[in-house]
Amino acid sequence: MCGIVGAVAQRDVSPILLEGLKRLEYRGYDSAGLAVIDENDVVQRIRVLGKVNQLQQEHEASPLSGGTGIAHTRWATHGKPSVNNAHPHICRDEIALVHNGIIENHESLREQQRSAGFEFTSETDTEVIVNGIYQAIQTNPDILEAVFQTISQLNGAYALGVINKADPKRLIAVRKGSPLVIGVGIGEYFIASDVFALLPVTQRFIFLEEGDVADIKRDKLTIYDKDRNIVDRPINVSELNADVADKAGYRHYMLKEIFSQPDAISESLKSRIEDGKIVINEFGQNADSIFTRVKAVKIVACGTSYHAGLIAANWIEEIANISCHVEIASEFRYRKSVVTDNTLFVCISQSGETADTLAALQKAKEEKYLGTLAICNVAESTITREAELVFLTHAGPEIGVASTKAFTTQLVALFLLVVAIGRNNGLSLEDENGYVKQLESLPGRVNQLLLHKDEIEVMAKSFADKHHALFLGRGNFLPVAMEGALKLKEISYIHAEAYAAGELKHGPLALVDKDMPVIAVAPNNHLLEKLKSNLQEVQAREGKLFIFADKNSEVEATDNVRVLNISAVYDFMAPILYTIPLQLLAYYVAVIKGADIDQPRNLAKSVTVE
Ligand code: M6R
Repeated sequence: MCGIVGAVAQRDVSPILLEGLKRLEYRGYDSAGLAVIDENDVVQRIRVLGKVNQLQQEHEASPLSGGTGIAHTRWATHGKPSVNNAHPHICRDEIALVHNGIIENHESLREQQRSAGFEFTSETDTEVIVNGIYQAIQTNPDILEAVFQTISQLNGAYALGVINKADPKRLIAVRKGSPLVIGVGIGEYFIASDVFALLPVTQRFIFLEEGDVADIKRDKLTIYDKDRNIVDRPINVSELNADVADKAGYRHYMLKEIFSQPDAISESLKSRIEDGKIVINEFGQNADSIFTRVKAVKIVACGTSYHAGLIAANWIEEIANISCHVEIASEFRYRKSVVTDNTLFVCISQSGETADTLAALQKAKEEKYLGTLAICNVAESTITREAELVFLTHAGPEIGVASTKAFTTQLVALFLLVVAIGRNNGLSLEDENGYVKQLESLPGRVNQLLLHKDEIEVMAKSFADKHHALFLGRGNFLPVAMEGALKLKEISYIHAEAYAAGELKHGPLALVDKDMPVIAVAPNNHLLEKLKSNLQEVQAREGKLFIFADKNSEVEATDNVRVLNISAVYDFMAPILYTIPLQLLAYYVAVIKGADIDQPRNLAKSVTVE
């Protein structure tokens, strides 16, 4: 992952770089650094182990100033988080470089450079790039040539920002496999991993394409494509707002985002429904002609977005009567799969930058899919630019690493898709009106669920000393249980697994004893009695049960069974509703554990490496 920012300007760029890093911290936050070329043409650098705040403090204590600079916030891949492994990396006080991505052949390059007399100061895969550029510049002093020569030897993914002491008013940027945009100012240019990082300084952006190399001077920008042809890339004017979301009085972004779900869902429905019917054009210009031909759906995503896909698959088969297969993007991208006729490819991503999901989409574009659709929360992301059809969830920026409102709005988007496709597969207008009513009831019903907050906070205390938890669900509540387990593990660091309740006796039951909390999702549906039998198996082994049930589910509380009767009535929206108490449970357990809720250890919001 990692976030990179760079600038060439007349003014001191350090504050721009620091602000940019703050805005990119969702991409990684284990260490950070910046380098500028100062007024004496010396490359100056500060690096810290920790977050951008720490870098800011260091910078306040001993400020750097210069018109050309690069900066980086890191999510460690090669080499532990440490000051030495933090970027920018510098070779012999001449070349400084920031990198987002992974260099796959770094070991062989390292060996070659060692033999050529280079000493390494870090364990990163990045240092070979900066050394390579330094080596190349010894034979041809032009930094652009040196970069071209060096990248021709790299395998892997890399977005790069490179500055050179000998050419202090120039910045070279490279995009291959990792995102990079150029911000266009007046007499100044910027680079960053995303648009948001640069919104305080410009609204005008150039999206580099795969393999592009940009030669950036204050007053001149030249972009080369992967074949080294000079190319014209259009300038896009962003409509995004520069304001950084605040916590609005909540203790954490995650809590704010959980509580903003009624609004996020309303926003995601707005203008998507007219006269009780779904507005198909909201999926894109060609959506209607594609949807009328769909005979199967393939969904690909990662993490929470994958769980949304699992729920959608059940809806698609049940409501739209067509087959649907869901796959984890990192598996799909490397697997030979058979594409049946008229299959719509759907990828789901909050960020629109997840490397595996993007690669899966690129693979799908080369195969015989009927069309590609991205469900995404970020309008100007790579995935939205690459997919043929796009449906934007209007959840607003999600800052907490644990995905909450993105998930529930993805489910809203997917339900709209199910009905839109179902329309061509026997779904009557009356049915459609009914489903639309269920969707429109969601914001109010989610609000009701949020009222259980205090009870869930009390329930969370029972998890304070636990190291493991099991989540159980059946049917469309298995992915809900999976999502609950993912939330708990990622923010409270409690090992949590989800199982189909019917699978319990095939192995996981061996884990159940009085110390194992078992959380069950028990809506009043056709599987309730089956689930109750599975829960008996837990009780018989003295497992502690925490059951989320409808008022009508008639699940009795006992010493070992805590029941939270939630205000939900079973219908197709129930998976969305049952997600809310599980999000709150994970949140309050993490609060008790004193965890870093919005930025859990080892994770990042946007996973741009595979
Ligand atoms: O941005 P994406 O939806 O593509 O991200 C996919 C996953 O990385 C993401 O959902 C991750 O699992 C979340 N941290 C879960 O809360």
